[in-house]
Amino acid sequence: MTLRAIHWTGNTLELLDQTRLPHEEAWIRCNRAENVATAIVDMKVRGAPAIAISAAYAVALEAIQHRHLSVAAMREALMQTIERMCQTRPTAVNLFAAMRTMSDVVQSEVTDADDLLQRVVSTAERLAQEDVKTNRAIGRHGAELFLGPVQVLTHCNTGSLATVEYGTALGVIRALADQGRLTHVYVDETRPYLQGARLTAYELSHEGIPHTLITDSMAAHMMKQGKVDAVIVGADRIAANGDTANKIGTYGLAVLAKHHQIPFYVAAPLSTFDMKTLSGEQIPIEERRGEEVTELGGVRIAPVTTRAAHPAFDVTPHELITAIITEVGVIHRPTEHSVRETWMKAGDTV
Ligand code: MRU
Repeated sequence: MTLRAIHWTGNTLELLDQTRLPHEEAWIRCNRAENVATAIVDMKVRGAPAIAISAAYAVALEAIQHRHLSVAAMREALMQTIERMCQTRPTAVNLFAAMRTMSDVVQSEVTDADDLLQRVVSTAERLAQEDVKTNRAIGRHGAELFLGPVQVLTHCNTGSLATVEYGTALGVIRALADQGRLTHVYVDETRPYLQGARLTAYELSHEGIPHTLITDSMAAHMMKQGKVDAVIVGADRIAANGDTANKIGTYGLAVLAKHHQIPFYVAAPLSTFDMKTLSGEQIPIEERRGEEVTELGGVRIAPVTTRAAHPAFDVTPHELITAIITEVGVIHRPTEHSVRETWMKAGDTV
């Protein structure tokens, strides 16, 4: 059965608590937007597309709560919800794209509060359905890049748990596996939150895809040993020139891949592109609590007086990216020109 971490019942949102995986499949039942906001901040739901879709459903939850209000009062409440959701996590731009879509719907002409409620709910549902279609298209385009059986390395979690279903970088890996063209996946544990060890390994085990877990510091060695034919990662925000923000550690992998002459691919939907941000330097990088580094599973691993830094993302310059795989095709050797060309050709669909 396909793994899903977001379940909309029609009037509640159920989120699989990703902080409890792989030990326990616990679900969080959300009736209010604030439940969803807390789940996003606490990384119970995470991954750029999954954050965006959960936030869209959070607006739907508030529309249900406020359905007895006047249209004007309901609009005001929903705009406040959108603002709140935008404050949850700063780097993944999909959240802001989804909130822009929801804001347009909230402000559109409606006949009454019930009409507004229906529109908000159906827009959240549409965004969720589109995410699945988008990921499958990314998987198809990505798999076409590889001729023979490949061994790949991936970082963080970009699969069903990070999206609505299927995944971006993990979608490409899944498509390759479906076509019998994947030999092996090396999974970076992804310190400090261990999305690789806890979530990607869980998804690959669930799918029966052969994989080996490595610590982030083993990647160079694996590459040198000829065990990696390609690196495939996801993205949280891609600037107009192709510079890509993704989970901390991604930049280091791109540098290593260049040194070992291994192609480095980014798989992401068009909703991850931020055409108003001209280069990676302008991408806001989320700083999380140092305790997420000094503690492991709640147990202190560093001296109590030691403080830790925790930038949650880094930026890979476009020069290090072999190609960006999107739902509308592949951008080879991304530059400001080629990114803009793809964006224009796709039309303003996001
Ligand atoms: O902090 P996280 O777990 O939300 O970070 C997730 C990532 O960096 C993913 O690679 C990215 O969101 C792409 S998910 C399809």
